[in-house]
Amino acid sequence: MMSTTSMHGMWSSRLAFIFAATGSAVGLGNIWRFPYTAGESGGGAFVLIYLLCVAAIGVPIMIAEVMLGRRGRQSPINTMRALAVRQGAHPAWQLLGWMGILAGLLILSFYSVIAGWTLAYVFRAGSGQFAGIDGPGSEAIFSALTADPERLLAWHSIFMALVVMIVARGVASGLELAARVLMPALFVLLVIMVIYAAQAGDFGAGLGYLFTPDFDALSAHAGDALLNAMGQAFFSLSLGMGAIMIYGSYLSSQASIGTNVAIIAGIDTLVALLAGLAIFPIVFANGLEPSEGPSLIFLTLPVAFGQMPFGALFGVLFFLLLAFAAWTSAISLLEPVVAYLVENKGFSRVRASLLAGVAVWLLGIACLLSLNEWSGFTLFEMGILDLFDYLTANVLLPLGGILIAVFAGWILDEEVSRTELGASNGAWFYPLWRGLIRWVAPLCVILVFLNAIGLI
Ligand code: PHE
Repeated sequence: MMSTTSMHGMWSSRLAFIFAATGSAVGLGNIWRFPYTAGESGGGAFVLIYLLCVAAIGVPIMIAEVMLGRRGRQSPINTMRALAVRQGAHPAWQLLGWMGILAGLLILSFYSVIAGWTLAYVFRAGSGQFAGIDGPGSEAIFSALTADPERLLAWHSIFMALVVMIVARGVASGLELAARVLMPALFVLLVIMVIYAAQAGDFGAGLGYLFTPDFDALSAHAGDALLNAMGQAFFSLSLGMGAIMIYGSYLSSQASIGTNVAIIAGIDTLVALLAGLAIFPIVFANGLEPSEGPSLIFLTLPVAFGQMPFGALFGVLFFLLLAFAAWTSAISLLEPVVAYLVENKGFSRVRASLLAGVAVWLLGIACLLSLNEWSGFTLFEMGILDLFDYLTANVLLPLGGILIAVFAGWILDEEVSRTELGASNGAWFYPLWRGLIRWVAPLCVILVFLNAIGLI
C-alpha cells in the first residue's frame, strides 16, 4: 500500500507547496544566471528558445517530477527504486536519484559562492560604495571581491551555515513563512528596478535585445546556444535532480498538480524576464557588455543603484532579497540527499544536514579558489566554478529530465498518472501532457545534445 504522507513532514496546505516550490525555482538562476546566459548567447533568439523549452519540456517534466515524488513519498533514490519495483521495472532506475544527488551537491557548491557575492554586495550597497560609480568603477569593486579568497570563503561559509540550519530543522516547518513574505517583496523590488531601467536606461535597446530573435547572433555568440537555453530552463525550474520530486513528496494527495505547476513555472519565467528587463537597459546605457559572463549583474546593478534616488537603500534590499531567494533554492538542493541519509543510514536530520553541508562547503572552496589562486587550472577551457555550472545545467539536469520523462511516460502505468493528475477520460490536458512527456521532451533533449556535440 502506498503511503499518503512522508516521514519528513508535509506541507501545511497547497499554498505552502506553491511557495516552497516557487522558492526553489526562483533564485540566482533567474536573476543572475538567466541574464548572463542570455547575454552570452546573443539575446532574443536565446530567450525565444528558452521559453519554448520551458513550455514544451520544463512544464511536462515538472508535472512528472511532482507526480513521481507524491507517488513515492520518499527521497528520490528510494522513490525511484520503489516505483520501478512496483511496475516490475529494474531497480536501477534509482540511479536517477543518485545522479540527482551528485547534481545537487555540485550545483550548491558554486551556488553558495555566488550567493556569497550577493551577501557581500548587501554591505557594499549599504556603505554607499556604489554612489555615482560608472562601469569601470563597478568592475574594480567586483574584481577586488573575487580576487580575495578569504572574503569569498567567509561569505560562502555563512551562506552554507544558513542553509544547513533550515534543512536540519525540516523544510516543511522552516520555509513557508519566510517564503510568503520575502518572495513577494523581491518581486516588487524587481518591478521597481524595471521601472527605473525604463526611465534611466536604454529601455528600447534592452527590450529589442531580449525580444527580437536574431538567429545569427545566437550561433555567433555561443556554439551550443541551444543547449544553454535548454539547460537554463532545467536549472531555473529546479528540474532533473529531485528537488521538485522531494517537494512533491510532501504534497497532499488531493492537490491538483497541473494547476500548481503552471503557477510555479509562470512565476519563475516572469521573474527571469523581469530580471532581464532590469539589467539590459542599464547594460546598454552604460557601455557594459551583455556577454560579460557570470559577473554581469554584479557589474550592472551597482551602476544603477549608484545613480538612482535612495539607491543605497534599494541596493541593500535588493541584494538581501536575492540572497534570500538563493537561500530558499539552496535548501531544495540539499533536501534530497538529506532525506536519503535519514531514510537509509538512520541519521538524524541534524547529522545528515551537517554531513551534506560540509561536503558542499568543501566543494565550494574549490569553486571559489578557481576565481583567484587556481584560475590557471581549467578543463574544457573552464575553471572549476564554470565547469560545475556548465556540467550540471547543461548535462546532468537534462539527462535526469530524460529519465524522468521516460519513466513517467513509458514505465509508469497510464492508470497511475491519470489518477495522480486527476484526469478523467475526457480531460484535454492529459493526452497533451502524455504526448509531451513520451515524445517531445525526451526527443528534444536528445536532439539538443546531438546538436551540441556537433552530430546534427
Ligand atoms: N532553480 C534554482 C534557481 O533558479 C536553482 C536550482 C536548480 C534549485 C536545481 C534546485 C535544483 O536559482
